[in-house]
Amino acid sequence: MKKIKIGIFGCGTVGQGVIKVLNDFGALVEQRSGCAIEVARVVDRSLKEGECPHLDFKKVSKESDSILNDSSIDVVVELIGGVEAAREFVLAALSKGKHVVTANKALLAEHGAEIFQAAKKADCDIYFEASVAGGIPIIKALREGFVANHIEAIYGIVNGTCNYILSKMQESPASFNDVLKEAQEKGYAEADPTFDVEGIDSAHKLCLLASLMSGQWVDLNKISVEGITSLSNEDFEYAEMLGYVIKLLAIAKESKNGELEVRVHPTLLEKKHPMANVSGVYNSIYVKANPVGDALFYGRGAGAFPTASAVVSDIVDVARNIVSGTPNRIAPFWKSAREKKLKAPEKVESEYYLRFSVVDTPGVMGKISSILGKQKISISSVIQKERNEGEVVTVVVLTHSASKLKLAKALSEVDALEVIHQKTRVICLEREN
Ligand code: HSE
Repeated sequence: MKKIKIGIFGCGTVGQGVIKVLNDFGALVEQRSGCAIEVARVVDRSLKEGECPHLDFKKVSKESDSILNDSSIDVVVELIGGVEAAREFVLAALSKGKHVVTANKALLAEHGAEIFQAAKKADCDIYFEASVAGGIPIIKALREGFVANHIEAIYGIVNGTCNYILSKMQESPASFNDVLKEAQEKGYAEADPTFDVEGIDSAHKLCLLASLMSGQWVDLNKISVEGITSLSNEDFEYAEMLGYVIKLLAIAKESKNGELEVRVHPTLLEKKHPMANVSGVYNSIYVKANPVGDALFYGRGAGAFPTASAVVSDIVDVARNIVSGTPNRIAPFWKSAREKKLKAPEKVESEYYLRFSVVDTPGVMGKISSILGKQKISISSVIQKERNEGEVVTVVVLTHSASKLKLAKALSEVDALEVIHQKTRVICLEREN
């Protein structure tokens, strides 16, 4: 049996998970793949002896060269996170002809164009299953399972921290800050949650999903991103009354004119939508493709073992490619026959939830609906709670589809009305059709 030696950069939660999975399931992997995987070296600056069971501490070093200069190591597994040092190690490994497995979505989203080019030049594999949705094998599905499909849209709940917070806010009237604190105490949210709650982590993952979907590298900076920090309990209350939930969705979608939309934002989903019941820290990815139709994936997007499951599957893929002498058997991304244009954010069409805060006097709704009507924005539902005349009241309107540009024009006029008490809250709405 061929033995493949790997070097692991980073022995934190995920690195230790990978070592445990290789220890506990190594025999299963060998039996199924015909390859034995040996952890030859681990580079970690802070790991202490005894901290990682099943790892011989003599294999641990603080020096990156102990992996990079060891010609017997075939595969580098990058699990340090962060961007700059990870980029340096990955590029150095590729330049030395080592294949790479990484779980690092930030690295790939920011430097993917350079890294995939370097891998191609070196004729080395780069695998990244764990970078999107942890234990869900979505990268493999998109690269291999759906090879005969034209992918029309991908909708992702790809950030467990946000999904946990939104699920809790849907269930109870707890504030964003209270739920975030609870998520931090339970270890679901980072001490600095900015990347998660501002939608940046979802955008990193969407960058990879959209690139896989479209066969062209999608620039991270072209993704429009809105996080979840400004959602209020009132929004959840009205969503509930209207039969919707609120989810942070990462959306890549081919428009009717063939342009590609890439966006991350809170979204109202009908309760009957297949993703509406994805709660807590779970992730889900919904793919619409032809000829397969719809496919829904669900699972854990983070944590030592779901992530390690994905990393080990990549290691095994690379090991098999080495054994069969077919590196780059599957290109990281399919090449699109024709480059798609990215849709300008203001041209994106969506249905909307609009929460108006108005002084309730006769004629207010007339004024709002006539401004919306001037922009050809059609109303589908209106809801207003009891009030006393002259009080500030919330009016929620759902609209039919309109472009963001038309909506922005209408709302700048609405928000300038004297009867408008505060800026109108807008949330996009997606319907299953
Ligand atoms: N921080 C991510 C999340 C997990 O909350 O889903 C790693 O991608």
